[in-house]
Amino acid sequence: MRLGPLTLASNLFLSPLAGYTNLPFRLTVRELGGVGLATTDLVNARSLLEKKAQALKLIETLPADRPLAVQLFGSVPEEMRDAAVYLESLGIASADINMGCPVRKVCRVGGGSAMMTELDRTARLVRGMADAVKIPISAKMRLGWDDENITAPDLARALEDAGVAAVFVHGRTRQQGFSGTVNLAGIRAVVQAVKAIPVIGNGDVTTPEAAKMMLEQTGCAGVSIGRGAFYNPWIFQHTLHYLQTGELSSEPTFEERVRLMCRHLDLMIEVFGEDHGCRMFRKVAPWYAKRFGPANEFNKRVVLVSSRAGFYEILDYYRRWRQQFLDETSELKPRFRPPPMTASFMHPPGAAPPGNIPVPKGPVEVW
Ligand SMILES: Cc1cc2nc3c(=O)[nH]c(=O)nc-3n(C[C@H](O)[C@H](O)[C@H](O)COP(=O)(O)O)c2cc1C
Repeated sequence: MRLGPLTLASNLFLSPLAGYTNLPFRLTVRELGGVGLATTDLVNARSLLEKKAQALKLIETLPADRPLAVQLFGSVPEEMRDAAVYLESLGIASADINMGCPVRKVCRVGGGSAMMTELDRTARLVRGMADAVKIPISAKMRLGWDDENITAPDLARALEDAGVAAVFVHGRTRQQGFSGTVNLAGIRAVVQAVKAIPVIGNGDVTTPEAAKMMLEQTGCAGVSIGRGAFYNPWIFQHTLHYLQTGELSSEPTFEERVRLMCRHLDLMIEVFGEDHGCRMFRKVAPWYAKRFGPANEFNKRVVLVSSRAGFYEILDYYRRWRQQFLDETSELKPRFRPPPMTASFMHPPGAAPPGNIPVPKGPVEVW
């Protein structure tokens, strides 16, 4: 698919996940294939211009990590513009704007002319960026503040006029946080509101079938996947295969998951050093473990890991402990298998909705 001047290898995107979508994670999912464009964690535009070490670390990349979008956060037009110019000079493929909830204040006071004022301000900021660079500028937003204030269609249209090359929409309102069902009709309303730019749907895509349903029911040009990639870093490759052939791929085995987890840890150590990389991996490994079957003995140890050797000891111990849940073919006995993943918008009418995907801690107000 096209994103402004870019041609992407697929219409599947890795969503920005602050604290997770760092270089090692991006490389891990890219090695499996299927990703059209990956985005960094959100980066404060001012910190980037001031060349703060933390901001520079967030945009660290390698040739294998292409094409890459950097997500910028900020409200000062000149800073956002200069940050986009800087990213372009570094060879970054595109800049995404975290819209958080740019119309939040407006939603609180009930919309009306104030909302248009805020839209105008946001559109001016975007135009300043889009006019200053050749790389595409995209924007990521939610549907609106709450069900009574669905502002994304108007915002997307205004941003298109201001020069954005694509819009990413998480199909929930700010009030919903991460709970409840992703609203496909809401995403469709954004698709219908824009004239020509691609709209990328987002929210709860945890299986290839969910991606297909979002594409079909909303008319969106692509889907962006966040937490689904924690559970299943193969999701991009599997979804691409499913969209192209209609065939579902088999679930990765325990051994494949372990191999990938170890690869991910090695990349963390390469990029962050052994001590810091292992500490950061404390919150990553439990996501892999969610598909291991019973894993409490793994989780309670891995949250203390501080070296590569220590990690392998934990893994060895865990493999032995896990034996008790296996049958004679070394598969998990049926009652210990994790339930299949189901997207919130795919549960049958009348059935109890599936449990929400856990949300790691963080500043949800800007996501
Ligand atoms: C841990 C975490 C960190 C996130 N960080 C960001 C962020 O930096 N920028 C952003 O626009 N959205 C952020 N989000 C929102 C995701 O990009 C995405 O819109 C949301 O999780 C819904 O997609 P999913 O169900 O596929 O995860 C974050 C979400 C989570 C759970």
